[in-house]
Amino acid sequence: MLFAIFGNPVNHSKSPLMHNYFFKKMGFNHCYGRYLLEDGNEIIKKFKELKIKGANVTVPHKEWAFRLADEVRGVAKDMGAVNTLVLENEKIIGYNTDGPGFMEVIKEFDYKNPLIIGAGGTARAISYLLKADIVNRSEKRLKFFKEKGFKTYTWDTFEFKNYDLIINTTSAGLKDETIPMPEEMLKRVFKKAKYAVDVVYGKKTPFLKLAQEYKLETRDGLYLLVYQGILAMEFFLGMKIDKKEAEKIYFEILKN
Ligand SMILES: NC(=O)c1ccc[n+]([C@@H]2O[C@H](COP(=O)([O-])OP(=O)(O)OC[C@H]3O[C@@H](n4cnc5c(N)ncnc54)[C@H](OP(=O)(O)O)[C@@H]3O)[C@@H](O)[C@H]2O)c1
Repeated sequence: MLFAIFGNPVNHSKSPLMHNYFFKKMGFNHCYGRYLLEDGNEIIKKFKELKIKGANVTVPHKEWAFRLADEVRGVAKDMGAVNTLVLENEKIIGYNTDGPGFMEVIKEFDYKNPLIIGAGGTARAISYLLKADIVNRSEKRLKFFKEKGFKTYTWDTFEFKNYDLIINTTSAGLKDETIPMPEEMLKRVFKKAKYAVDVVYGKKTPFLKLAQEYKLETRDGLYLLVYQGILAMEFFLGMKIDKKEAEKIYFEILKN
């Protein structure tokens, strides 16, 4: 069976590497590629042309996938975003594994007051399952969260509570050495916190470095990449997989 990831850009994606390694290790004769999709409106047309069984969808096409899938199931329905498409009985079904994948990342954490930094697509996916307060550098994208009843702040209105789990969903630190909040504010937040999670992967971000200076337990974006991938793989294969074994395989290839 063939699988792919649709995105723009898509060159940097680790999904082909990790899923192909998983297929090899499991003895499956499947193949996973990448497809640079410029026009999100064509996502389903391309899915059919490529004769694939399943696909992951990344920035900026998750909303197109949501709109154009034959049917959307599970949490994706409320999130308005699909990151996994699967051909099931001649229909292309859309799912979202970002939110559930994130819950897997933090499943061993003992937290009460989570704070999400950032208000983009990833924040939406995560906040759907994790009832967190949201802080963003600007007001506009907070509207979505406000309407859903979340407590939201900009840097100017931020109130310091005893947040114990801090999640960076911005791309600050990905291509530069910035942190997602003014430094003094973030330090004050970290002073009270226990855990810090970043969604950026491929480097140790200044956000995580600072968290470690404050002795917080941390997880980088590789964890979300792995767990959203494992959950997508279950949809692709149409079966439950041994998560512990899959985790080992995915981390083995990604950490090397
Ligand atoms: N590990 C994984 O598997 C995984 C999964 C999904 C996404 N990601 C990563 O998550 C990141 C965010 O993706 P997204 O789709 O949510 O992006 P997005 O929809 O464009 O949202 C970005 C958010 O971050 C804020 N932001 C951007 N740069 C910032 C900076 N330098 N300082 C403070 N705030 C900043 C934006 O604020 P404004 O509203 O003010 O513009 C916005 O709220 C990307 O780096 C992506 O690669 C990783």
